[in-house]
Amino acid sequence: MGDGEPGGSKGAPFLYVVVCAAGVASGVGALIDAALRRDWEVGVFATPVAMDGFFDTADVEARTGRPIRSAWRRPGEPRPFPAPDAVVVAPATFNTVNKWAAGLADTLAVATLCEACGLGVPVGVLPCVSDALASHPAYRASLDRLRGMGVRFGDPYEGGAAAGGDRRFHWERALDLLERR
Ligand SMILES: Cc1cc2nc3c(=O)[nH]c(=O)nc-3n(C[C@H](O)[C@H](O)[C@H](O)COP(=O)(O)O)c2cc1C
Repeated sequence: MGDGEPGGSKGAPFLYVVVCAAGVASGVGALIDAALRRDWEVGVFATPVAMDGFFDTADVEARTGRPIRSAWRRPGEPRPFPAPDAVVVAPATFNTVNKWAAGLADTLAVATLCEACGLGVPVGVLPCVSDALASHPAYRASLDRLRGMGVRFGDPYEGGAAAGGDRRFHWERALDLLERR
């Protein structure tokens, strides 16, 4: 999904931030700012549902200096982002986690995640899934499968629909997960 060579235009390592359609997504600017402070260059992928009002897309593009990627490029168009040095998914929804584990690459965001482990780069995930959904056996199996692929998960978080920007969603934890050996 990237360009082949890792590293951004400024020579900094390049971080993919994948944003799913959970209520807390409105606070994703905090994650981008934290990543920039840690000297990552950042490119954001968002699911099509997340693009539909879950966060301020113009604000995210201003922070990263790059367009958000949500739809596939057309054949022949250049790839806008370099290959990733690391990937974080925050917030990760029930839907995207299950599709990722099953290999159902029907959005660019999930396709990017499906490819990430094969690239050998660290992948950190902050799920935002209610306890009721998280009790579904398919979700538990998805977590087991993804952990077996080397994906690193933060603590469970039940955000609820109106939790945008909630300080209890520990955005920086996604970056900490990348540093764990
Ligand atoms: C306001 C609102 C908040 C939502 N919050 C969550 C959430 O925290 N976690 C979750 O798994 N789904 C949540 N959903 C449902 C997802 O948006 C829905 O499952 C969607 O299909 C996920 O798409 P995606 O995984 O492609 O982003 C929420 C929906 C709405 C309308």
